[in-house]
Amino acid sequence: MRIIKNIDEMRAYSQKKKNHGKTIGFIPTMGCLHDGHLSLVQAAKKQADIVVVSIFVNPIQFGPGEDFKRYPKNLSNDKRLLNNFDIDVLFLPDTKKMFPQGFKTYLEVEEFSRKMCGRSRPNHFRGVTTIVAKLFCLVCPDFAFFGQKDFQQQLIIKTMVRDMDFPVEVVALPTVREFDGLAMSSRNRYLKPKERELATVLYKALCLAKEEIENGEKDLRKILIRMRSLIGTVPSIRLDYVVIADPETLEEVKAIKGKLLVALSGSIGKARLIDNLIVQAK
Ligand code: PAF
Repeated sequence: MRIIKNIDEMRAYSQKKKNHGKTIGFIPTMGCLHDGHLSLVQAAKKQADIVVVSIFVNPIQFGPGEDFKRYPKNLSNDKRLLNNFDIDVLFLPDTKKMFPQGFKTYLEVEEFSRKMCGRSRPNHFRGVTTIVAKLFCLVCPDFAFFGQKDFQQQLIIKTMVRDMDFPVEVVALPTVREFDGLAMSSRNRYLKPKERELATVLYKALCLAKEEIENGEKDLRKILIRMRSLIGTVPSIRLDYVVIADPETLEEVKAIKGKLLVALSGSIGKARLIDNLIVQAK
């Protein structure tokens, strides 16, 4: 595994591989890797000749008072995990090179970036699209891999790729869960043991909605009330949102029909958690 820190070296490496007819699979991450990330690495290994993973804790996707400064880091473990997968490049760009003084350019996918997580994190998605666009320009991937846990993020990135004609295929892969259903996330490390146990109520609420919808429940309000009251049994959860939305537009639906995105976000202790399920109504 080659480690590249310099952005010009990264671009030159990718250009050279492409000139030799190789395809590049790319997994952008913020590190503190878990099995969710590793499932993306595995998929990239199958689909592309060269696999590049980046680790970069992107300052511009964090709002004031969020966890940028304490975002979990474990580079030596990340390197060990990636070495086991025999990836080609670990790209570790430098913040000052990624955002030189005077940096002023942002890329934003309108509308989608304002919904769901975007309501309480107003500049989050423009930070994500800006860094992902920049990483795409440096790594020049043919395929880029993202997890469905961040459903809104992968939809926004797919939209950006379509609108800007980036020559990359965005591949979204299923959420990887812990044994009890909690979606894997680097932020799970913030949870104390009791919080970790209680956090599973979020997945339980999604499963409740899925079961009701699949059993033919058509009363949207009732489903949302039941989800909220289940989550309410854990008073330490600060619920941000629960929505049942159209997975293509993120617009909250008015009726239970077709394919639905059931999504939520809540905080417990120091961790803000998100999760979702795609459900097919009867
Ligand atoms: O999902 C993440 O870890 C980040 O939002 C990403 C895509 C690496 C951009 O910083």
